[in-house]
Amino acid sequence: MRTIEWDNGVVTIVDQRKLPNQEVWVKLKNYQDMAFAIQEMQVRGAPLIGVSAAYGLALTAFHSTAKIREQLMKELEEAAAVLRTTRPTAVNLFWAIDRVMKKAQETQGTKEQLAEAVVNEAQIMADEDVETNRKMGKFGASLIEDGDTVMTHCNAGSLATVDYGTALGVIRAAIEEGKAIEVISCETRPRQQGAKLTCYELMRDNIPVTLISDTMVGYVMSQGMVDKVVVGADRIVRDAVLNKIGTYNVAVLAAEHGIPFYVAAPMSTMDQSRTSEDAIIEERSPTEVTNIGSERIAPEGIRVLNPAFDITPLEYVDAVITEEGIFRPEMGLKQKRND
Ligand code: MRU
Repeated sequence: MRTIEWDNGVVTIVDQRKLPNQEVWVKLKNYQDMAFAIQEMQVRGAPLIGVSAAYGLALTAFHSTAKIREQLMKELEEAAAVLRTTRPTAVNLFWAIDRVMKKAQETQGTKEQLAEAVVNEAQIMADEDVETNRKMGKFGASLIEDGDTVMTHCNAGSLATVDYGTALGVIRAAIEEGKAIEVISCETRPRQQGAKLTCYELMRDNIPVTLISDTMVGYVMSQGMVDKVVVGADRIVRDAVLNKIGTYNVAVLAAEHGIPFYVAAPMSTMDQSRTSEDAIIEERSPTEVTNIGSERIAPEGIRVLNPAFDITPLEYVDAVITEEGIFRPEMGLKQKRND
């Protein structure tokens, strides 16, 4: 399922807030539309956020009425500044904006040539994302055995990327190799990306999936129902993986039960400039916690915490699967607690 398309100055996305009940496609015409889409999570998932931001810049370039190159450069810088404020944790957002802006700065010639280069770069990045996921999937599939039940958290599938997915790409690639794989999808409160998005896209592809609430992870692991865990990442810093809130719980429980815990993420998710000490964790609206959908479940006036991501130390990660191969963080890192 391709989640984002460019057609002659219009970007079409599926509004992920409405899935699985409604599949609504939305047309975006300028970077403000794109900034809204990222902030409000019509599009979400680290790689898709990155490509979306690149397309936000492409929309600016395509529709610009600037007369000269310098004027267009200024418009791109303004759009980039707004897009950078949309969500703080997924490093792919900043990676993508930097890449397009670098291309723009390096492109000599007229305003028209600059606009064309920016649009082309965004298109290349979208296509590359699919290619990257397929490569990652092939590497990752070597870690998955025929008959495995794989647990995943949040949504790191087609819906989090341009297509195919990172963690779900590994599962898709294993199935394409002829392996019989079952998936356990954690609900992923508060926004329930696991229940709403992972279950939706796996069922759409006829991949066997069972939904559990996040509170059931320990029980199903203790009952021997999970062979491997594969999740995505929003940012991999020098000593930890930043991913959807609840990932750390899953990782600690996997270590406790001796279940391999794998992270699948493209190189664009790596951030060697930071450690867990200076990780930026997005805090979202309290209503995501006090409400389930539109129904309020907590008393008025309750104090709420709502960090959207958590930090899993690399000592809990058995392998990081990328498009360049598989890295084993335990090499040179602390041993896992149960080793
Ligand atoms: O808040 P979200 O839905 O954007 O968070 C998404 C995740 O945490 C994913 O696991 C991560 O971006 C990896 S997606 C391939």
